[in-house]
Amino acid sequence: MRRKVIAGNWKMNMLPDAAIRFIDEITPMVKDTKNEVVLCVPYTDLFYALLAAQNTNIKIGAQNMHWEESGAYTGEVSGKMLKAIGVEYVIIGHSERRQYFAETDETVNKKLKAAFANNLKPIVCVGETLEQREAGMANDIITSQTEKALDGLTDEQVANTIIAYEPIWAIGTGKTATSEDANNAIKAIRNKISNLYGQNVSERVIIQYGGSVKSTNAQELFSMSDIDGGLVGGASLKVDEFAKIVNYRKD
Ligand code: 13P
Repeated sequence: MRRKVIAGNWKMNMLPDAAIRFIDEITPMVKDTKNEVVLCVPYTDLFYALLAAQNTNIKIGAQNMHWEESGAYTGEVSGKMLKAIGVEYVIIGHSERRQYFAETDETVNKKLKAAFANNLKPIVCVGETLEQREAGMANDIITSQTEKALDGLTDEQVANTIIAYEPIWAIGTGKTATSEDANNAIKAIRNKISNLYGQNVSERVIIQYGGSVKSTNAQELFSMSDIDGGLVGGASLKVDEFAKIVNYRKD
């Protein structure tokens, strides 16, 4: 049985004092969950968030990393640097980075390999645009992004990659994919992984849904056969809302 991973992506929000307050407030609200709770915070919050989350079940992640360990890459942060301060997770290839910062399938693949080289747990984002969906290309796009992201990884690394299926038209728009559509897209991704790496590997891969997840739709989405939790943007900035999403079902 795959675990559910509920990850918040704060994007470019939250100053350190707000980050610490958020973690202090949510800690007692999520302490009994069996789900994995992750907060992916801005670089400037990482150290504070790691301290605030010590001795809790909340894991801390970054939102990006560079693939090299060090060097003349002004403004970049490496996986080695993240690991050195105790970061556990890292988002790779979010659609906002692909769209605004020229991330490609190739850089996503390099970053994924570097994440594993530094013992970070990667959350790799894939997703189609509205035009691609309307042209009937959604599954081709997301399975191709998945194949290119995973290229050259070992079976064990693939099994330990978290994939977030985030249809771009559903991000920050209030439009959520129906639970059936999201589940079918995620099944297509899992099928592709099965073809490439075998069924055993594909059944171990955690595949989240992201795009306007809220407390009112989390239960329906996360109860689908292939949806293993969520990557939550806007709703992860509010303590009560994110706690409800984490606790969408009490085991
Ligand atoms: P929203 O939940 O705000 O739609 O954002 C989704 C997302 O991009 C998470 O990475």
